[in-house]
Amino acid sequence: MHITVIGTGYVGLVAGAGLADFGMDVICVDKDASKIEMLRQGRLPFFEPGLKELVDRHTANSRLSFSTDLRSAVEQSLVIFLGVGTPSDSNGGVDLSFIYEAAKEIAISLNDYRVIVTKSTVPVGTNRKIKAIIDQHKKQDVEVDIVSNPEFLREGSAVEDFMRPNRVVLGSDSSRALAIVKDIYRPLYLIETPFVLTGLETAELIKYASNAFLATKISFINEVANLCEKVGANVLDVARAMGLDRRIGPKFLHPGPGFGGSCFPKDTEAFVRIGHDFGSPVRITEAVMEVNRLQRQHMTEKVTNALEGNIRDKKICVLGLAFKPNTSDTRESAAIYLIKDLLALGAIVSAYDPAAIEEFQRCFPEMQIDYCQNPYDAATGSHAVVVMTEWNEFRNLDLERLKTQMTRPVLVDTRNIYDPAKVMALGFYYDCIGRMSCPSTS
Ligand code: UDX
Repeated sequence: MHITVIGTGYVGLVAGAGLADFGMDVICVDKDASKIEMLRQGRLPFFEPGLKELVDRHTANSRLSFSTDLRSAVEQSLVIFLGVGTPSDSNGGVDLSFIYEAAKEIAISLNDYRVIVTKSTVPVGTNRKIKAIIDQHKKQDVEVDIVSNPEFLREGSAVEDFMRPNRVVLGSDSSRALAIVKDIYRPLYLIETPFVLTGLETAELIKYASNAFLATKISFINEVANLCEKVGANVLDVARAMGLDRRIGPKFLHPGPGFGGSCFPKDTEAFVRIGHDFGSPVRITEAVMEVNRLQRQHMTEKVTNALEGNIRDKKICVLGLAFKPNTSDTRESAAIYLIKDLLALGAIVSAYDPAAIEEFQRCFPEMQIDYCQNPYDAATGSHAVVVMTEWNEFRNLDLERLKTQMTRPVLVDTRNIYDPAKVMALGFYYDCIGRMSCPSTS
């Protein structure tokens, strides 16, 4: 079967390579000619473990190709996957211009029955609008069906998530289209992946409800962590004991500096907006966003408190700029908010990240940061080191060496990667999230 995937970002490229691995003939289309050229030369626009191997394998066996020619791709393909970006707009909604533009372009290229599968995260009602746009702009009297197929992949394990998903959600009004898309995902039947077949609006909502729920777990445990700090409890033990209740589960109960990334902040905001638009507010998600905002602020307070309330002209070393480890992605990373605050308060900031320095520099050229080659250089002369991302590289730092290079031995560990007792025994002022000085019993 021939398939077109529109968009070569995280969602589109992983889907394209994954579908080729499922035995499909896939053309990945993007408007950005330089990106397509790069992909044709075997270079990927971002790093994702396992993706390069998959792309190389299927370009070599000709099941995967790259093109800027949407019309020709649509003419050859029974199924067209939409994986274009859906960024936030300035009013807390979702900017759907890339989706609607793609829908128009598909419409004018249609020469036969086609199934359009939306993988991009889109608000409730968008898939019906896509269908209306295509019906309005199509040049030939051909039928089109729409399937909503939300993507749940995580950066850093996107290939694994595509190949072995917890579930596949397919929403459509058309049993014909559902049968075609189910057939594409047939290899997943062999590994007994559950399929949820449903309507368009339900599929659209599943994605938002899932991400909002995961974000809720994080904000919940962050609030519990803050309470632990007040009462002298240990959040790691609280989270572990909670997670042992199978109804709760242990995942997404790691307290930290607040969630970031390309999905949770954007999707919670959009979910709240959808609730308002339909007159059914999702108040828990509103609170989740507010708690996340406060948690970011709380990190600045921790650093300020560590330096007795005055950080003007103090040198602060930030370790970790990516929103989570194993990615160069800095979108909505907690480090952005901390560094902005520190600079506004007159601090001098140095930073190190194993993968995200270039990206951070590109996105925030206005921020005066001394970017360094390694954690020790970044810590030299600093009055505090703040760990913002739990990269493995930071778990085994030589703390004695770090201490000798710092002006003051202050370590703020927003990811709880160190043992408080050990760090304090080395003479550091140490602060973390929700443990204070309580050693973990686990
Ligand atoms: C997320 C969803 O997991 C994925 O299903 C969806 O398709 C896209 O959004 P991703 O953004 O790649 O994936 O990262 P994820 O691992 O979920 O982490 C998101 C943020 O939450 C990160 O900033 C991370 O540090 C934070 N987080 C995660 C916590 O603070 N605590 C946790 O327990 C888990």
